[in-house]
Amino acid sequence: MTGTTGAPRLLVVGGTGGLVGRSVLPEFMSRYEIRSLHRHPVAAEGAARVEWVPVDVGRIQDWRPFLEDVDVVLNLAWYRYGNATRFRHLAEGLERLVEAARVAGTGRFLQVSVPPAPDRLERTLPYLAYKRRVDRAIAASGLSYRIVRPTMLFGAGDRLLGTMLRLMDRYPVFPMFGDGQYHVSPVAASDLARILRLEAAGDGSGTIDVGGPERYRYCDLTDLMFSYLGKRPRYWHLSPRSSVALAQLVQDLGSSLLYSYEVEWLLSDLLGPPPFEGLDPPMVRVEPYLQREALRRRGGGASAAVRRG
Ligand SMILES: NC(=O)c1ccc[n+]([C@@H]2O[C@H](COP(=O)([O-])OP(=O)(O)OC[C@H]3O[C@@H](n4cnc5c(N)ncnc54)[C@H](OP(=O)(O)O)[C@@H]3O)[C@@H](O)[C@H]2O)c1
Repeated sequence: MTGTTGAPRLLVVGGTGGLVGRSVLPEFMSRYEIRSLHRHPVAAEGAARVEWVPVDVGRIQDWRPFLEDVDVVLNLAWYRYGNATRFRHLAEGLERLVEAARVAGTGRFLQVSVPPAPDRLERTLPYLAYKRRVDRAIAASGLSYRIVRPTMLFGAGDRLLGTMLRLMDRYPVFPMFGDGQYHVSPVAASDLARILRLEAAGDGSGTIDVGGPERYRYCDLTDLMFSYLGKRPRYWHLSPRSSVALAQLVQDLGSSLLYSYEVEWLLSDLLGPPPFEGLDPPMVRVEPYLQREALRRRGGGASAAVRRG
């Protein structure tokens, strides 16, 4: 099965407008014909002649038309937050996709998932419980599959490190959750896209956890971010319990800045898995990205000050 130009066809479920999708598009577009399923228009897809089908994938009952001539399925669709009903609808749509792909004999199925989390969250958090349900359906399907589980991602417009820099820049103190001795190994979204392209062409099945090339103590990474902003680190030290409570308060106020499960996960020291081996050139470190982002903020601040003056 191939696309109209003879290139293999990739179905991107969740589309190329999100953090990972924005890197997937340039990585795959010269080698694949891309069909993309998601809800909101993405300008880059038009320019790249991607076939966009505007749809909520949780609502798709019959996946056959979307799977026509598809060689590889890549699922990126997920929410960062929501209640059980929201996740259940999406998970059920994705489970129907897995079954339809099995029946259609789709050659390869790639799923981007998340690394292991504390047991309590795995059991009770809809975000995780439904994610694992979809992962299990893929693993049990008999399809040739790879579940790729990256830790914290970075890239233009990310909502973790980019947001942290913004807060450090804007406010006199930054919350330090617990002792800051736990680890993170950030992965570039562009490296994840390279891994996905390798995996799309591969035939091994199973699950891989992916960390970036460097494993940092969280407090060392935040110190580094302050230094790139040209500021002395100033922390508001919080116990683990107060850290989760603060995030819960922010979440209850309706902000998407930070969710309490994200803080619990960070504190659990499970977000620093080892790097993925096998990329050439090797995975990129996070420092140049942080330096660029910090410089952009400092440059922005300077020009805003000039404008104000
Ligand atoms: N960001 C991270 O640090 C990180 C780390 C580990 C794993 N992951 C995983 O990587 C995957 C991609 O994450 P991301 O950060 O790129 O997320 P993202 O920026 O939120 O992008 C997800 C995309 O999915 C689409 N989508 C969501 N619900 C949909 C629905 N019901 N129907 C159709 N499309 C839907 C959205 O497009 P529309 O709004 O156009 O529908 C959105 O652009 C997710 O599975 C996530 O769990 C992310």
